[in-house]
Amino acid sequence: MNPVGPVVLATLFSIVLAEKSPRLKFTVQESARFHFSKPENYMTVYHQHGSDVLYVGGQGVIYMLTFTHKGVQDTQIPVATDENANRTCRSRSGPHHSQLECDNFITVIEKVNDTFVVCGTNAGSPQCWLLVNKTELIEIPETEQKSPPSEISPPFPSHRSVSLSADGSLYSALSAVSKQSGSIRRTYSSNKLLKTESKWLLDPQFAGAAVIPAAHKHNEEIYFFFSEVNKSAALDEEPYRARVGRICMSDDGGIKSVLPDSWTTFLKARVMCGIGSTPQQYNNIRRAFVLTAQHRTGVIYGLFSNAWHRTVVCAYSVEEIDGAFAHSRLKGYNIPLSGHRPGMCASKNNTAAQNPKTLGVMMNHPEIEDVIWPVGGGPLELPTDDHFTHIVADTVRAVNDEHYSIIYLGTEQGKVLKVLHTSEEAFIISQYSLFHNEGPIINMAIDPQKGHLYVGTAMEIQRLQLADCNRYGDSCRECILSRDPYCGWDQARRKCMAIPADYDIATGGFLQSLDQSNASDCGGSTAVKKRRTVPKEVQMEKDGPVLLPCPVRSYHATYLWEKDNCIKHYPCTITGSSCVLAPTPDLPLKEGVFRCMALEGGLKQEVVSYRLVFNGGPLPTSPASTLGLSVLLAAAGFWLV
Ligand SMILES: *[C@@H]1O[C@H](CO)[C@@H](O)[C@H](O)[C@H]1NC(C)=O
Ligand SMILES: *[C@@H]1O[C@H](CO)[C@@H](O)[C@H](O)[C@H]1NC(C)=O
Ligand SMILES: *[C@@H]1O[C@H](CO)[C@@H](O)[C@H](O)[C@H]1NC(C)=O
Ligand SMILES: *[C@@H]1O[C@H](CO)[C@@H](O)[C@H](O)[C@H]1NC(C)=O
Ligand SMILES: *[C@@H]1O[C@H](CO)[C@@H](O)[C@H](O)[C@H]1NC(C)=O
Ligand SMILES: *[C@@H]1O[C@H](CO)[C@@H](O)[C@H](O)[C@H]1NC(C)=O
Repeated sequence: MNPVGPVVLATLFSIVLAEKSPRLKFTVQESARFHFSKPENYMTVYHQHGSDVLYVGGQGVIYMLTFTHKGVQDTQIPVATDENANRTCRSRSGPHHSQLECDNFITVIEKVNDTFVVCGTNAGSPQCWLLVNKTELIEIPETEQKSPPSEISPPFPSHRSVSLSADGSLYSALSAVSKQSGSIRRTYSSNKLLKTESKWLLDPQFAGAAVIPAAHKHNEEIYFFFSEVNKSAALDEEPYRARVGRICMSDDGGIKSVLPDSWTTFLKARVMCGIGSTPQQYNNIRRAFVLTAQHRTGVIYGLFSNAWHRTVVCAYSVEEIDGAFAHSRLKGYNIPLSGHRPGMCASKNNTAAQNPKTLGVMMNHPEIEDVIWPVGGGPLELPTDDHFTHIVADTVRAVNDEHYSIIYLGTEQGKVLKVLHTSEEAFIISQYSLFHNEGPIINMAIDPQKGHLYVGTAMEIQRLQLADCNRYGDSCRECILSRDPYCGWDQARRKCMAIPADYDIATGGFLQSLDQSNASDCGGSTAVKKRRTVPKEVQMEKDGPVLLPCPVRSYHATYLWEKDNCIKHYPCTITGSSCVLAPTPDLPLKEGVFRCMALEGGLKQEVVSYRLVFNGGPLPTSPASTLGLSVLLAAAGFWLV
């Protein structure tokens, strides 16, 4: 057998994998950033779309960060811990919190109507305040209707919680910890304060929440995403079940005898994330992000993990979940449902919804039978080794008037992946390396209105542009191969530009190729026109070592070296962010011109070229263009920046 066989196979295999890995890798150094003076291992962020201000709740402090193109201005608002609480916390630290958690970690920053509600752990005995006049914290007036702070904020920052403000009310979901069973509540509102019954939730761990808009106000809902944990599951049994729970925002509670202070519209469903009904399931939902269009359409992205801590992303249709809640049978309830369906959203004067029998059904049967499956039948195909920690998404109107979903994934190594998600596939447009230290991304916020992404690690917060089209290079081909729906090739200005908000499809003028890489739209003549580079002269000893580097831009391209106008081909092996031509016994180096070519989307582009001269060979034409080997390798690093 030909000994080259396995090598060829390995190469083919790596090419197939490369097709799915990030196409481009960017190291970002120029974005606006803020450094914390001490690590913030837990943080809560609040950002209003269209604003340049990011509120970050940290340990004993709220940072008000104002981003400008020059940099970041910060105002710090200290939020002290109660001394008694601190002392008690220190004396009792044990398995559920460490002494390090005996501080006031800010867990809630939400704008309710026009007031900021802020809550912190206050060393195990949570407290809430109103943030007024930009930087002043005051007690919440007694007259306001609110739950005790311990129902709004968890006592320690490692206990996960979710808060959401909608329509002048604050909703709080606290995860279960030791003796606390976990709950979903309306906690600050002029409407009735409501809660879940403890038997409806089995040790929930919350991952996210979102408002699901509706055509009629009384049909608006909130979805909560969480995992339930069965603590009596055997070691070889899966303890987690991913869930979506929903309540109607118009819910006003039950009657004196049934569910007086509880939701009358709480329903939950099992959410699956795995391939078909195989045992390979991801049952622990870690984060969720909802992309809603109008009314009951949209996509939900969930970040899931399995017992081996592998993370994947599954997408769900809002319409499908809505349909399941509206039509599924209720688990354990076999009598046909007639009249007002239990749990449906109802307007205030709908008396059928307040029927004791209907409420009794809700009390005892909160789970629907239908199971929610991911669109496409399984997790998105993202074959990277990255461990994901966070997810946000955006929907972008492209030049063909279609809407495309873009997902941003934060990783354990402090990177961000930008992913195009179509009905056909998930395509990793690029990977951003943003941070000097490689800590995990612990929070992200997206502002589709202003086109910004905020990304935070324990040490830094940065702001990125969603449409950073100038990174893709200055040719039509590079712009189009990016498959970035925010960007297109502006034929008039001959530049890769962000699609203007008021782009007129009828007038046209921008080129994109989003459904598959196809650069032929760039036009035959310009695309095929050979871009020649001027060969750099490299002198070397005959038989001496040499490595000719070729900077890699697209990891989906195939690279090869051509010698003396294609008379000979040499392989180019990608190592890190460069591809090198290294001599082998079969392919010894000879004097001549070597050109590194990148092939992608049916087109070939010259990246760099060298003229190799052996010492004692023909004299270089210009001594200035001669590079030593060490200079060459350093230069390779420089080109990649
Ligand atoms: C809590 O008390 C300890 C010991 O008295 C002190 O060092 C620490 O600064 C206090 N922490 C806070 C947040 O007040
Ligand atoms: C906020 O500012 C206004 C006007 O400057 C002032 O009248 C008011 O007392 C301030 N409120 C608080 C709580 O400090
Ligand atoms: C929010 O504003 C509405 C309308 O002005 C008001 O009815 C409601 O009481 C406010 N909510 C809170 C919590 O103050
Ligand atoms: C939890 O797991 C145990 C052991 O498999 C099982 O008997 C029990 O029914 C489960 N509880 C729930 C609520 O699923
Ligand atoms: C009460 O119900 C009637 C008819 O069912 C409806 O027309 C009216 O708008 C409702 N009022 C409120 C306040 O919801
Ligand atoms: C690329 O686009 C051109 C013109 O739009 C079309 O003729 C060609 O078939 C496409 N190539 C691929 C691979 O889809």
